[in-house]
Amino acid sequence: MQLIDLQTQYRRIKSEVDAGIHAVLEHGRYVNGPEIETLEARLAEYAGVSHCVALSSGTDALLVTLMALGIGRGDEVITTPFTFIATGEMIGLLGATPVFVDIDPATYNIDAARIEAAITERTKAIMPVSLFGQMADMPAINAIGEHHGIPVIEDAAQSFGATFAGQRSCGASLLAATSFFPAKPLGCYGDGGAAFTTDGALAERMRQLRNHGQTAPYQHSMLGINGRLDTMQAAVLLAKLDVFDDEVARREQVATRYSSALSEHVTTPALDERATSVYAQYTIQVDNREAVRSALDAAGIPSAVYYPVPLNRQPPLYSDVPIPESEAAAERVLSIPMHPYLDPADQDRVIEALIAAVKK
Ligand SMILES: Cc1ncc(COP(=O)(O)O)c(C=O)c1O
Repeated sequence: MQLIDLQTQYRRIKSEVDAGIHAVLEHGRYVNGPEIETLEARLAEYAGVSHCVALSSGTDALLVTLMALGIGRGDEVITTPFTFIATGEMIGLLGATPVFVDIDPATYNIDAARIEAAITERTKAIMPVSLFGQMADMPAINAIGEHHGIPVIEDAAQSFGATFAGQRSCGASLLAATSFFPAKPLGCYGDGGAAFTTDGALAERMRQLRNHGQTAPYQHSMLGINGRLDTMQAAVLLAKLDVFDDEVARREQVATRYSSALSEHVTTPALDERATSVYAQYTIQVDNREAVRSALDAAGIPSAVYYPVPLNRQPPLYSDVPIPESEAAAERVLSIPMHPYLDPADQDRVIEALIAAVKK
């Protein structure tokens, strides 16, 4: 059993993926090929937003959204410490300071009620993360941003396809960044990502930033990066988009089955009543995590810990502001196998092994 099974998915869409890759091999536009624009249009439509810029990774997508806002030295960006390093890393890499606000322990997402107290005159953006497939409370966060004139960037690396109060992830704020890392709900066959915005001028700026700040051939109006998505990855994503809704529905079925079998035994994921999740991870909380992991391992069930150390405890981003909920979650969370092709027999194996492991 695997935490995430990408081979079964490939077998399902093999002919479409292979045809898409071969088309790129034939036309030879490996960079900036026509598939990029097609993909951007489909992703923007899916997210319900006017602009999508395809990028080389989720990390670069975060970087480009921050750069487009001109964020740099001396600025502060409010975010959550309970996330993958890239969120705080891109803020810090630009010379700005991530200001960590604690999570809502039920959803693991930034607690919107604590954001206002962290705003200073140096706050230049709010970057909530939509963790494990469930969006942060974007309406509340957008309202705070609007009230203070601070732009909101959704780190939607794990949530493309999710909804909150009728809005789609990547389409619920001024800016958003997602990842197409292979293990993500919508993943490609290498690194990939995309940025989204409702603002045409920001979109244009992000297009220039991804191509060395170039405005016309060999004319550079600002410093940028090489952040382009490969055409081959766009072709893969176009094939995967065709089955994406069905895969999200299958993930929801697995999650529903897990939750009904496990909720008496462990803390199962809590979904806000306004939200749907794409379950990038199915994350529970247990006591004695290491013992539970060893027992699962012995039963042949893989598991993973996202994330054992919150960003405020990572040396390059260290902060001594107390963040108790994130630190408590980091001690207890455990992610178990979750993907659209996990069949009921394997789901039962996970459920039985986990119930036995927590009873030990
Ligand atoms: C919350 C979060 N932000 C950013 C990233 C970075 O995405 P990528 O790995 O595509 O650079 C990830 C991916 O792991 C992530 O989970």
